[in-house]
Amino acid sequence: MSKPIRLAVVAALAVALIPSIGPAQLGHDTLRNAPVTEEPPAPRLPTVENRDLRRMRAYPMQPPTIPHKIDDYQLDLNANKCMSCHSRVRTADTQAPMISVTHYQDRDGNFLAELSPRRYFCTQCHVPQTEVKPLVGNEFIDVDQLIRRQRSGSR
Ligand code: HEC
Ligand code: HEC
Repeated sequence: MSKPIRLAVVAALAVALIPSIGPAQLGHDTLRNAPVTEEPPAPRLPTVENRDLRRMRAYPMQPPTIPHKIDDYQLDLNANKCMSCHSRVRTADTQAPMISVTHYQDRDGNFLAELSPRRYFCTQCHVPQTEVKPLVGNEFIDVDQLIRRQRSGSR
């Protein structure tokens, strides 16, 4: 087959396959199991977990998830509400854990007196959790479990 014909065949196959991967087959609720042309009623907003208990991290360098509500906390060019509790100077009053030293480092590892601009928008990395059933399964195994399995000889 010449190259243009091969391309045409691939394109035709791709178009033929698209309708067969509908939302039903994908099987997750982000598409609300409805055709894209329809707008089914929106599901209820889930409740944000607000137990104030720090959660275990899945690995040491994981940005911890936020164990409290962040509704109406201003986080934009003008103000960073998070820092009113989590900055070094506020932790005695608030008993919030201080942002770690990495938040005071620039990308070359130099230490700064102030929060590094690359860590300003906290919710880029830290997110609250909601009380919902996970949309997709997860087989993540943490490193301690892995080591334990290897020591006991099973896999
Ligand atoms: C009113 C004070 C306050 C504000 C504002 C606040 N926090 Fe917190 N935060 C806390 C306290 C206190 C804790 C300790 C656990 C708890 O009590 O919820 C905490 C815990 C956390 C943790 C968990 C740390 C860990 O080691 O597990 C993260 C992440 C966090 N906050 C991020 C944020 C972000 C992001 C914002 C802004 C959107 C924010 N916080 C705003 C007080 C605050
Ligand atoms: C670019 C990603 C990123 C951004 C942005 C960021 N963090 Fe973090 N944060 C992390 C990571 C990764 C960790 C865990 C490793 C570490 O300490 O560096 C962490 C750790 C923390 C901890 C736990 C500190 C400890 O010693 O237990 C707190 C609290 C926290 N961040 C709050 C914040 C707040 C508040 C902001 C916004 C001002 C913020 N972070 C912005 C990635 C980020």
